[in-house]
Amino acid sequence: MVGGARVFLCKTTELAPGVARRVDRADAPAIAVYNIDGTFYATDDCCTHGLASLAEGALEGDTIECNLHFGGFHVPTGKAVFAPCSIDIRTYPVEINGDEVFAIVADA
Ligand code: FES
Repeated sequence: MVGGARVFLCKTTELAPGVARRVDRADAPAIAVYNIDGTFYATDDCCTHGLASLAEGALEGDTIECNLHFGGFHVPTGKAVFAPCSIDIRTYPVEINGDEVFAIVADA
């Protein structure tokens, strides 16, 4: 069991493979949830290069490409992999409970 609060992201049936979605939170940064070949991942939604929603970018394999300046991140690790992005994005552990997908967020 991973420590931290659980934030509901979506149902497993709501997000098809190859799709990302933004999940807004009231008092914290939005989270992007991704379905990559049936495995769910969660990262901060805001690009570290500017004010762009990564969930609105292009998910190619396990990489998300920001649609503002076309930088990119490796979703499972959050590593910045395409310029101009150089700062990694925060990733969150994901927990599946039945058909519900949660992010484990330490600061929630
Ligand atoms: S805001 Fe994402 S690459 Fe510039």
